Amino acid sequence: SSNKDVKDPIRVVITGAAGQIAYSLVYQICSGEVFGKDQSIILHLLDITPMMGVLQGLIMEVEDISLPIVKNVIPTDNEETAFKDVDVALFVGAMPRKEGMERKDLLSANVKIFKSQGIALDKFAKKSVKVLVVGNPANTNCYILAHYAPSIPRENFTCLTRLDHNRAKGQIASRLKISPDLVKNVIIWGNHSSTQFPDVRFSTVVVNGKETSVYEAIQNDNWLKNEFVSIVQKRGAAVIAARKLSSAMSAAKAICDHMRDWWQGTKDNEWVSMGVISDGSYGIEKGLVFSYPIHIKNGKLSIVQDLKLDDWSREMIDKTQKELIEEKNDALTATSSQ
Ligand code: NAD
Ligand code: LMR
Repeated sequence: SSNKDVKDPIRVVITGAAGQIAYSLVYQICSGEVFGKDQSIILHLLDITPMMGVLQGLIMEVEDISLPIVKNVIPTDNEETAFKDVDVALFVGAMPRKEGMERKDLLSANVKIFKSQGIALDKFAKKSVKVLVVGNPANTNCYILAHYAPSIPRENFTCLTRLDHNRAKGQIASRLKISPDLVKNVIIWGNHSSTQFPDVRFSTVVVNGKETSVYEAIQNDNWLKNEFVSIVQKRGAAVIAARKLSSAMSAAKAICDHMRDWWQGTKDNEWVSMGVISDGSYGIEKGLVFSYPIHIKNGKLSIVQDLKLDDWSREMIDKTQKELIEEKNDALTATSSQ
């Protein structure tokens, strides 16, 4: 049959599956763009009990798009069913910030979710599971998840900063009126928050067929150090202000970029941004979930080493690290009282 060359299915779980990011994400995963057109998939969709009706609607739509690589779709509100034998876990669901909620309240609600899901992941998922946390605060949720899933290797945990990375590429490209794929090696350091440091000191662009550094091409250090940084840091909030909803289409696309690169690797001398568990590189506290430049080969993530930090970039990196340490400490305090 035409299916002869299709590989045995992998199990992919998406949490928050009835939400708006998942609505864009499910199609892209099912189309084969992420894990390959020859990789069949069993999709596990987790959401909370009141959303099970909405999930049924999503399943009808998956059936109706009739994609050949989808072998089964399992909707559930049960963590064991959700995480059982999964190869890939996309943690999109989280408690959103509501009016009047303090950061502490948000952290404490999310700690509860990620603690419970971490314990379930540890117990039921494959030990090789590749984990991506998207739900905010993404870095700290990932920290808590990893903390409660000690039997899964530390290098399997990541959080999403690829959207910020793509935003940075987009801003450089539009400033130079070139295609975004001509912008290489931007870096997002630190937290997926407004303290992140979008760094283009090592980035190159191709302008009129010639490769050159971003600083040389743009010829405006002031714009690169101020306005550019601020636009990227505040882009999420700007989308919320305009849409009255947080970014979803671009977030789903970034999730696919992140997982596709993890699966298929990056080119030599190229990197992407991912939040990973720090090994202490660049003087960051070991264990913190911190976004770094990441090179990927044969499914293995490695932090790009030996990039020079000047006083300005050191200060920017320290600032976002400080926020992450505070978030982590608040989250750990919240777990001990739960
Ligand atoms: P959404 O509110 O539309 O969907 C979230 C879904 O999660 C809902 O269906 C909800 O019922 C579900 N959910 C809540 N608690 C759950 C639990 N314990 N288990 C399973 N499901 C649960 O939100 P969205 O727009 O899809 O965004 C999802 C998250 O992603 C938010 O936290 C958002 O802030 C975050 N986000 C992150 C990035 C990033 O770049 N890291 C970008 C955009 C959005
Ligand atoms: C984004 O970067 O678009 C989102 O993380 C913003 C948010 O707070 O949900």
